[in-house]
Amino acid sequence: MRRRHRRPILESMTYLLLYLAYATGLLIVLSSRGVTSRVAVPGVQIPVTSKVLIVGATGGTGRALVLQALARQLQVTALVREPARLGFTHPSLTMIRGDVRSLATVQAAVRGQDAVICALGHRRFFYPTRILSVGTRNLLRAMEAHGVRRFVCQTSLGIGSSAGRMGLYYTLFVIPVVLPFYFWDKSRQERLIADSKAEWVIVRPVALTHAAATGQCRHGFDIGSLMLTRRIARDDVARFMLDQLSSNQYLFRAVGVSA
Ligand SMILES: NC(=O)c1ccc[n+]([C@@H]2O[C@H](COP(=O)([O-])OP(=O)(O)OC[C@H]3O[C@@H](n4cnc5c(N)ncnc54)[C@H](OP(=O)(O)O)[C@@H]3O)[C@@H](O)[C@H]2O)c1
Repeated sequence: MRRRHRRPILESMTYLLLYLAYATGLLIVLSSRGVTSRVAVPGVQIPVTSKVLIVGATGGTGRALVLQALARQLQVTALVREPARLGFTHPSLTMIRGDVRSLATVQAAVRGQDAVICALGHRRFFYPTRILSVGTRNLLRAMEAHGVRRFVCQTSLGIGSSAGRMGLYYTLFVIPVVLPFYFWDKSRQERLIADSKAEWVIVRPVALTHAAATGQCRHGFDIGSLMLTRRIARDDVARFMLDQLSSNQYLFRAVGVSA
């Protein structure tokens, strides 16, 4: 009788252990696949940016990027799949309709820009995709072809040296169950950037909110927490990303940001 009770417990323990082995394995792989920061080359000039391409402009962070870039008097080009989704127009805003996976579209959008900011994301969580990596590869190719150097790209905490720093809930549930393919593609995206000829800054936020800007943004290489999930407003991430256009502080580095 006692043995009959023990069996389901043993089975549950086995499944739990297998799951933990999978989650830990994924954590190790994501940690080993992240970018290796390069030592910033002395003498890289801080570029003067007046024209910027924003990719992912209809998304949460992207919209904040567009509004703040316009407020900074920049000439903004937004690469969007559906212009109406942005919901506003502006004399200094040009919209190019298209998909970031089309190299021809991306070439047209990148031509003539001083810098590119990417806040690409999607909701195809449950099966393998390459939207982030293919889109980013196109952007980097077009930038090289048109001599556009500065690239600021939003990825996520939880990759490379920041693996595990989204907190236990993400490390043991969200990333292994909901986002394994997404994070896999994000790690591919980061590698493409690090191997490129661009002057790049990778920005890795903690969990994002739609809260109003607080003006607070901690940044560096020990951001996030192994236990708790920290948060930051998309508006604050956008401001930090725009600041990277005129700073070499994190050039060739993947920097974490949190409130
Ligand atoms: N949510 C979080 O807590 C969290 C935490 C850390 C990092 N991140 C990362 O931060 C990034 C931005 O997140 P978000 O929530 O602010 O953005 P989001 O709302 O997911 O917006 C993503 C943007 O990418 C665009 N996009 C998707 N596929 C495209 C394609 N094939 N061609 C052109 N544009 C395309 C979308 O356009 P449409 O409007 O046409 O779909 C949208 O403008 C994402 O990479 C996300 O993973 C998120």
